[in-house]
Amino acid sequence: MKRYVILISGRGSNMESLLDAGLPGVCAAVISNRPDAAGLALAAARGIATVTVDHRDFAAREDFDAALATEIERHAPDLVLLAGFMRILGEGFVRRFEGRLLNIHPSLLPAFSGIKTHARALAAGVRLHGCSVHFVTPALDGGPIIAQAAVPVQAGDDEASLAARVLAEEHLLYPRVARWFLEGRLALCDGRARLDGETPVSGALRVPHVA
Ligand code: GRF
Repeated sequence: MKRYVILISGRGSNMESLLDAGLPGVCAAVISNRPDAAGLALAAARGIATVTVDHRDFAAREDFDAALATEIERHAPDLVLLAGFMRILGEGFVRRFEGRLLNIHPSLLPAFSGIKTHARALAAGVRLHGCSVHFVTPALDGGPIIAQAAVPVQAGDDEASLAARVLAEEHLLYPRVARWFLEGRLALCDGRARLDGETPVSGALRVPHVA
């Protein structure tokens, strides 16, 4: 049985969607960099081991990264899923887990990497927004894209309404991609995501028909 760990910083709704998906693997632990992350209690209620590695306990980023990596390795995961994990991870950490480290980002990358993606999408006036699952590389939100889901930006949207529409897609997309990985179908090859050896054809588009 493959093993995975989930890294969170807050609410943990993506974590829940992964845990509820019946993935072909065991969630060995949920790890947070914040002791007050609401997702920790949700994971514990499911009987999953929870751990906090508090970034505020470390003066240097590399020391936090090293402690986090040690904690992750203790659970011997085949796959590490960043799910609303809000710390930037250094190159050493990323290289250590490269090829088995995934992230979900709430935009159609490469647009709107970083934070405040929904507000920035609204400010830019884009008509389509969405989410991306990608392999993590040292470039922030810049690793090879595996799958994306797009949603329309609607008249009258505010940050909350747009975020909710995107989040519903996140909850479908991330478990699908995690399943591919745990089934041994997904890999990082020569800097590209490969599903069954091919480029994943995995876009989802939820756009209402316009007459
Ligand atoms: C999600 O939108 C995720 O894509 C982003 O932060 C949010 C976390 O939400 N990185 P949750 O903790 O999974 O509910």
